[in-house]
Amino acid sequence: MVGLLLWLASGTWSVPCVPVPVDPAYLGAWLARGCYVGWSADPRPLPSSMGPGGRRVFLNTALTESLANGATEHPIGAAAVREMTADDLTTPRGWSASVKFAQGAHGWLWFEVFGPTPTGRPTVASRDAPGCTGCHDQGRDRVRSVR
Ligand code: HEC
Repeated sequence: MVGLLLWLASGTWSVPCVPVPVDPAYLGAWLARGCYVGWSADPRPLPSSMGPGGRRVFLNTALTESLANGATEHPIGAAAVREMTADDLTTPRGWSASVKFAQGAHGWLWFEVFGPTPTGRPTVASRDAPGCTGCHDQGRDRVRSVR
């Protein structure tokens, strides 16, 4: 019984796919469930524009439509996942994600985790993470993908 409660409390299986969690404590478990795999995505991992390795970007419907409409700011609930691979464009390296939880450019949660699974300790899990916004400020409301 205690084991069951601990298992449920770990969040790995209890985290729902919708809405995308804005609490970083649940985002790794949400990624591990593969909740994003049905989103609009790059057809396959592509060479990253950020140097070695590859990436496959997934955008949820709210963000896809907002980009298509040319919106200057994306709605609360917009979200993106970037799978990162090694140079072979196959071997998984990690995940980064951005989730819009409040209005304005400061309203994004930035999240990044490396490892064989996304449930390890994240390297980034905060709003306005400078290691992310330095590049993402060049995007439209901090989104770099144009699709
Ligand atoms: C060196 C510049 C750079 C840095 C630093 C950077 N990104 Fe990005 N990011 C990009 C570019 C460019 C794209 C568009 C896809 C591509 O070309 O790889 C992108 C795409 C993304 C996407 C897909 C949605 C979008 O905006 O297009 C997510 C999610 C993302 N990055 C998260 C992060 C997180 C989280 C961090 C910080 C841990 C981060 N990025 C740091 C340049 C950067």
